[in-house]
Amino acid sequence: MGFHTFDAANADRLENAERRYRYTSREELIAAIDPKPTATVADLGSGTGFFTDDISPFVKTVYAVDIQPEMHTYYKEKGAPENVEFVTSDISDLPFEPDTLDAAFSTMTYHEFATPAALATLFTVLKPGGRLVTIDWAKDGDGEAGPPRAERFSMQDAIEALTDAGFEITMQSNRPETFFIVATKP
Ligand SMILES: C[S@@+](CC[C@H](N)C(=O)[O-])C[C@H]1O[C@@H](n2cnc3c(N)ncnc32)[C@H](O)[C@@H]1O
Repeated sequence: MGFHTFDAANADRLENAERRYRYTSREELIAAIDPKPTATVADLGSGTGFFTDDISPFVKTVYAVDIQPEMHTYYKEKGAPENVEFVTSDISDLPFEPDTLDAAFSTMTYHEFATPAALATLFTVLKPGGRLVTIDWAKDGDGEAGPPRAERFSMQDAIEALTDAGFEITMQSNRPETFFIVATKP
């Protein structure tokens, strides 16, 4: 695992739409994933399903992957769309066959899971041409929200790690608080 895992006792905070959309919009996430109605996509560290809900209407299946069963319980009690499948797993140990996912994305979670083992697993389970969309708090961000800067990565850190894992970087953007990367499996 990476830095400390999100405290499930604070799950309600992830459902504050006004605050969440300040840092990541549904529009930019959908555009970056570029989902097809037949697609199988994974939300890595899905939490309460805040962004899983946004993506689910655009794909066939979305796997909500989280290491904490309490987060899945929260999402199930909130009510998940029918095409959401729950997977309780560490991202470094995903139970998917190689070359099965059309895309995967993580929002504000990369700093919690990013290890060479996790990125290698993601590279394996994505189909060739599959996209990995990563949005997270930037180490050089303004620090007005999110985890302490000592627990964040810079966009350059993430690009180097993703490149080392075999991905090609097809989009990158460093913003005031967050970075946004689209990496593609060749
Ligand atoms: C900060 S929350 C963000 C949740 C969601 N992505 C969002 O933006 O609303 C991070 C989530 O990632 C999960 N998580 C952390 N490390 C993980 C890992 N190695 N494998 C799977 N899930 C992980 C945590 O349990 C938590 O639910």
